[in-house]
Amino acid sequence: MTNDAAPDADRRVFIKSFGCQMNVYDSQRMADVAAKEGYSEASCVEDADLIVLNTCHIRERASEKIYSELGKIRQLKEERASAGRATTVVVAGCVAQAEGGEILRRQPAVDLVLGPQNYHRLPQLLRQRRSGGAVDTEFPLEDKFDHLPVSTPQAIRARGVTAFVTVQEGCDKFCSFCVVPYTRGGEVSRPAAQVLAEIGRLADAGVAEVTLLGQNVNAYHGRGADGRSLSLADLIGEAAKIPGVRRLRYATSHPLDMGDDLIAAHRDNPILAPYLHLPIQSGSDRILAAMNRRHTARDYLDLVARVRRARPDIALSSDFIVGFPGESDADFEATLALAREVGFASSYAFKYSPRPGTPAAQDDRQIDEATKVARLAELFALLEEQRLSFNRRLVGRRFDVVFEKPGRRSGQVIGRSPYMQSVYAEGDHSLIGAMAEVEIVGVGPNSLIGRLVARASREVSLMA
Ligand code: 5AD
Ligand code: SF4
Repeated sequence: MTNDAAPDADRRVFIKSFGCQMNVYDSQRMADVAAKEGYSEASCVEDADLIVLNTCHIRERASEKIYSELGKIRQLKEERASAGRATTVVVAGCVAQAEGGEILRRQPAVDLVLGPQNYHRLPQLLRQRRSGGAVDTEFPLEDKFDHLPVSTPQAIRARGVTAFVTVQEGCDKFCSFCVVPYTRGGEVSRPAAQVLAEIGRLADAGVAEVTLLGQNVNAYHGRGADGRSLSLADLIGEAAKIPGVRRLRYATSHPLDMGDDLIAAHRDNPILAPYLHLPIQSGSDRILAAMNRRHTARDYLDLVARVRRARPDIALSSDFIVGFPGESDADFEATLALAREVGFASSYAFKYSPRPGTPAAQDDRQIDEATKVARLAELFALLEEQRLSFNRRLVGRRFDVVFEKPGRRSGQVIGRSPYMQSVYAEGDHSLIGAMAEVEIVGVGPNSLIGRLVARASREVSLMA
């Protein structure tokens, strides 16, 4: 039986994204690269001639998931091969960066291991495919963003009316638990003009809400047109002027980089969502120091107070880690106390997971699994109570919702509140892509029910 590649006109790609929003964005950019090479998007993995797993290395569970996924793909590749169809398997993202050639040894069905800074080289690497697999995880001298094709208006429209734009990558903070500085490298900001042009293209194709992404997004310092460096607040100010952009967000921020100008941007910029994801990780100063966070719980509380003075209706969210090496019951109590004092709108909590090459993994005071599980359950219960109580307090409030898609029932549309919850409302599909004022009339476990009050005056409908 021959094992032929699909004819150029009929090649399909399937990209599966794991982990954070930056991987979602990168997967879209890889889809743009593949489209330029003649690949259309496959609706399921079985139909794909090119399979890309865009991987996450942040916690052990995330990494291990990739190998079980690759086991299934190997079988699929063999089945397709016996039907005479070739399949190329690419492992991209942070596991690719961290494990490199080890992936080829553990799973020989993989053809290419590609680090996050090398996506623009995908076409060239696919053409040079060697038997035994190839690895490209060198940090290149050139900037991938200068070489990636731009998304076409059709591709943008197919992805919906909210979009991510990576503005900054990498991290210089070296929190002692985190692999990011090793997998994504040092902090690099994209030039402002490049970011603003991309937002302009998104808005022209009907995108209403843009989230500016970075591992440490509030450390953004991109080159401006006049050579001057722009802060994230400056960038938000410029992006807010782009016609069609109705709402801006940014994630994820480090407390140390929360400058006065960014706090003021929350006061001065109505287009900036009143929502701030500001991870604290722990409420204990001893643990914060061991984590190398370089701030105390009091610093965080003072910062929250300043942000709330600037924008009283702002909602806060955080990431927490429980069971960090050496965490005592008293340290954990301090985390609960901090969460109670702030009152978060929604948060993520994780059990500490030792990551290869990070300082905390070498600490000999690792916490046993049962303690981690119990602490996670207790913290999660508190955060869940805070989330539901935040949602309940929204009943009777009015705010703008960006409508994204039709609801399950006819005559219903689903959008997103400024605070990130899904909002269901009765309304026709011409609302999709528009921002409209809604009054909250009910609360479900994971969504809000709204009644349409009025469409925002600047609205432009996608369907028009
Ligand atoms: N173990 C558990 N959680 C982690 N995070 C990062 N590294 C680890 C780790 N080793 C969490 C942090 C971070 C979020 C993205 O993932 O809370 O803010
Ligand atoms: Fe990781 Fe800390 Fe950098 Fe966040 S700030 S990416 S947790 S090292």
